[in-house]
Amino acid sequence: MCGIIGYTGRREAAPLLLDGLQRLEYRGYDSAGIAIVDDGAIHVVKGAGKLSVLRDGLEGVYPPGRCGIGHTRWATHGKPTTDNAHPHLDCTGAVVVIHNGIVENYLELRAELTARGHALRSETDTEVLPHLIESYMDEGADLLTALRHTLGRIRGAHAIVAMSKREPGRIVAARAGNAGGVVIGYGAGEMFVASDLPALLPETQRVAFLADGEIACVTADAVEYVTAAGAPLQRGPQVVPFDPVTAAKGAHKHFMLKEIMEQPECIMDTFRGRAIFEPPAIALESVGMSDETLRRVSRVMLIGMGTSMHAAMLGRSYFERIAGIPAEVDNSSEFRYRDALIGPDTLVVSVAQSGETVDTLEAMADAKRRGAPQITICNTPGAQSTRVADGCVLTRCGPEVAVASTKTLTASISALYLLACHAGRARGVLDDARLGELIASLARAPGLMGRVLALGPKVQEIAHALAGYEDFLFLARGAQYPMALEGALKLKEVSYIHAEGYPAGEMKHGPIALIDRTMPVVAIALDDGTRDKMLSNIEQVRAREGLVVGIITEGDAELRGKCDEALELPPYAPLLYPLLSAIPMQLLAYHIATTRGCDVDQPRNLAKTVTVE
Ligand code: F6R
Repeated sequence: MCGIIGYTGRREAAPLLLDGLQRLEYRGYDSAGIAIVDDGAIHVVKGAGKLSVLRDGLEGVYPPGRCGIGHTRWATHGKPTTDNAHPHLDCTGAVVVIHNGIVENYLELRAELTARGHALRSETDTEVLPHLIESYMDEGADLLTALRHTLGRIRGAHAIVAMSKREPGRIVAARAGNAGGVVIGYGAGEMFVASDLPALLPETQRVAFLADGEIACVTADAVEYVTAAGAPLQRGPQVVPFDPVTAAKGAHKHFMLKEIMEQPECIMDTFRGRAIFEPPAIALESVGMSDETLRRVSRVMLIGMGTSMHAAMLGRSYFERIAGIPAEVDNSSEFRYRDALIGPDTLVVSVAQSGETVDTLEAMADAKRRGAPQITICNTPGAQSTRVADGCVLTRCGPEVAVASTKTLTASISALYLLACHAGRARGVLDDARLGELIASLARAPGLMGRVLALGPKVQEIAHALAGYEDFLFLARGAQYPMALEGALKLKEVSYIHAEGYPAGEMKHGPIALIDRTMPVVAIALDDGTRDKMLSNIEQVRAREGLVVGIITEGDAELRGKCDEALELPPYAPLLYPLLSAIPMQLLAYHIATTRGCDVDQPRNLAKTVTVE
């Protein structure tokens, strides 16, 4: 998760920017930089490695100036080098930009800009931004208008902060989608911009958060808010308490909602530096196993509990479809009693966000006794599972505070996808073209997830209408079936409503007896090869007066007409579509639970880490 800070006011900017970035170090980064506008010029100082290296390199001599921006970068496109570090300049050093997100269409924009004579110097996707802004300013636009035009040219989800030497003292900041937040801090005769509250709180507690599609134009004494279309917005600051919990929750009422909203960033963090775009490659740093071992195994056994098992179910599809290895999945606690026939020819892949779930650890110990090579997917560096397994793929979500897992689900799914790509490469079944497609598909996830998160108000409306029901059924097929299970699990956990997840084909074999007007049915009917069969299931539910909430693909008018309520998701690759459908499942559970007045962050009877059998 990249860190962003900006300052404009009467004090020297550079020390303030470095202090702000230091407060964001907890987010992790691999390079850092600052830019200051002063005396008609932009001064950029940046470098690979830690902030302390940058700070020490300055030897107390900071670039002078009272307006500047700073960034800590986690590399996605291009290595963590000085050239690739932000801020990035345009051709003439007139515009400077920092950015969090992925410009999904950067290759075509880069080609277009290069053909028009722009000189791009880094390997990053970000660098197209200052050049696009430059080209609009050269046509006469001011900085704010040029940023608005630039937003119209790029795909994906972004937080973008820019300055121009032609408009000294001004910082423009935009949020498009949900690849990271933007918060404006109000001081006396000075203003701040940041990605997160902790960067600002020691300086000011008066803040305003940008929503998707909003832009702030900040000077020392004023801030103007507009939409991406240029319409003015009324916005004043709110006062937030200066305590660590508030700082960590940011703009959100609950950790669960914050963690749901963070998912595009978590996915990006999980694949950055591991999915290499050009030429396509997978670089998993700690997989702990030779290609030879991966070639030798004849099957994969995936294990996990609860939400992690649902991720493991998708892992099974990935190992079979991407790496061409037969795979099965089991609940860790059941696996222990199976006396499973595994040995050195079976790769055991465990999924556990905590890395301390006792049943998963016991299953891993059993697998170890039987000589099976093991890789674990975990969100907690140093946890027990990472010590038992031969190797691990860490998800990079930061701590998950809410008891119900959300961001670790989608990050685990992404990590399993990367691992399957790695295994497919090791086994020689993935050529460059196919791997390139698989990587490009994953790179679209943060932007698309941002679009799905924007369905929040609509989900909230549906949740209000459904919060009084006491039984729910979740139906799906194929890759979406684990998400039906997850939808039911989330709802049970946080709202205490009885819910069941079923493969839709199973419906007629029993559950259909339950369906009447008192039982809402959430049906995931996306355009992924299962849509037509799901349509039949929906018809069967309707014939019994069941109330249908459809999770459907945008523009599917026929299905929309069959559902009482429909949530429309953008089209996406079938294998990764669960990254999108997970979001309405989580939001529905969250909003139903809050409508019922439940404690979503700490639901009754549940523990974040289950250390008893
Ligand atoms: C669901 C949830 C639990 C965990 C399960 C496994 O919201 O939080 O079902 O997924 O207890 O936990 P880990 O992933 O730590 O092994």
